Amino acid sequence: MTRPESAPWAPDTLVVAAGRPPHEADQPVNPPIVLSSTFHSLGTPGAGEKVYGRFTNPTWDPLEETIAQLEDCDLPALAYASGMAAVAAALSLLPAGGTIVMPSHAYNGSLSLVAELEANLGLTVRRVDLADTDAAIAAFNGADMAWLESPTNPMLEVADLPVLLAAARGAGALSVVDNTFSTPLRQRPLQQGADVVVHSATKYMGGHSDVVLGAVVTRHPELRTRLHTMRTLHGAIPGPFEAWLTLRGIRTMALRLDKAEANAMELAKRLADHPGISKVRYPGLPQDPGHQRAAAQLEGFGAIVGIEIAGGAEVADAMLAALKLWTPATSLGGVESLAERRRRHPGEPGTVPENLVRLSVGIENVEDLHADLSAALDETRLS
Ligand SMILES: Cc1ncc(COP(=O)(O)O)c(C=O)c1O
Repeated sequence: MTRPESAPWAPDTLVVAAGRPPHEADQPVNPPIVLSSTFHSLGTPGAGEKVYGRFTNPTWDPLEETIAQLEDCDLPALAYASGMAAVAAALSLLPAGGTIVMPSHAYNGSLSLVAELEANLGLTVRRVDLADTDAAIAAFNGADMAWLESPTNPMLEVADLPVLLAAARGAGALSVVDNTFSTPLRQRPLQQGADVVVHSATKYMGGHSDVVLGAVVTRHPELRTRLHTMRTLHGAIPGPFEAWLTLRGIRTMALRLDKAEANAMELAKRLADHPGISKVRYPGLPQDPGHQRAAAQLEGFGAIVGIEIAGGAEVADAMLAALKLWTPATSLGGVESLAERRRRHPGEPGTVPENLVRLSVGIENVEDLHADLSAALDETRLS
């Protein structure tokens, strides 16, 4: 597989060039999909033998290599059946009866899974506002794991990640960062001291809302071995076609993210003055509470914008129903723009405003996106 020999390639080169077959005659330019649940065997399973499709599949290798290179990791990533399978795998590194520090706002699937483990498996959970650095650091004392997500889904709070990661290490807590929102193109937590990074590759990596897949990355060989063993035994593996599609999506991730992010910035600026909106949440806006940290830590502000609809949840739902270009749907990170009122999910924390609509800004023409949103806002505001 291709890897730079001397100077590392830039991230926008890596997305295109990593994980390709070697430059040799007759090699395909793209890695093939291997659709086989079992492999020819010649005796006792040994090192390098593929054996069985739950243990390994050659289609995973170039994807895992590419995600690792993007996250600046020498060990291959591990691909999973979904982002939540990756989250569950990282949580499985906790000791029995352990203690985790959890953000009060984060992806609601991660919050719900941790709440399940708390209720049924004796996990102790300390919930903190990640934007409050002192409170988070105080909570790390005696904890086994620090779960970090920044910017948070869907509130877009920004944590002081380098400081929190150093504090977690000092306290002896394993740090895990969910890097789905930023992608390794905007934030590389391993470089900042994280032990483990998780991704929902369903989002920006896949990029086309046509695949569900997750990934875990770590530089610690012993942790990777444990994760690999657990993936094999839990069976939380991605299908070969999903792995192939995800790598195909990664090829254009830099271009897509650049365009979506530029659209997000423009929309956030314009929407901040709209009378149908009481608040815009976007770390790229100078008035946003997370702006300073985001400007210092991130290589771009991302393409998720939160808007709070004046008039409340009912008006927000009417606005979503009036959209013609934006799709009212959950998820994020695809080429198409999606909008969703997050509190429609029962698992969303009660501290997320009822009227908050999360915008996943896509790569369409920004004028069309703005016109559609403004028309829906105006229509429902006046009715
Ligand atoms: C930040 C974050 N982490 C994890 C997940 C879970 O990923 P998946 O839906 O691929 O299981 C999501 C899904 O929305 C997410 O937004």
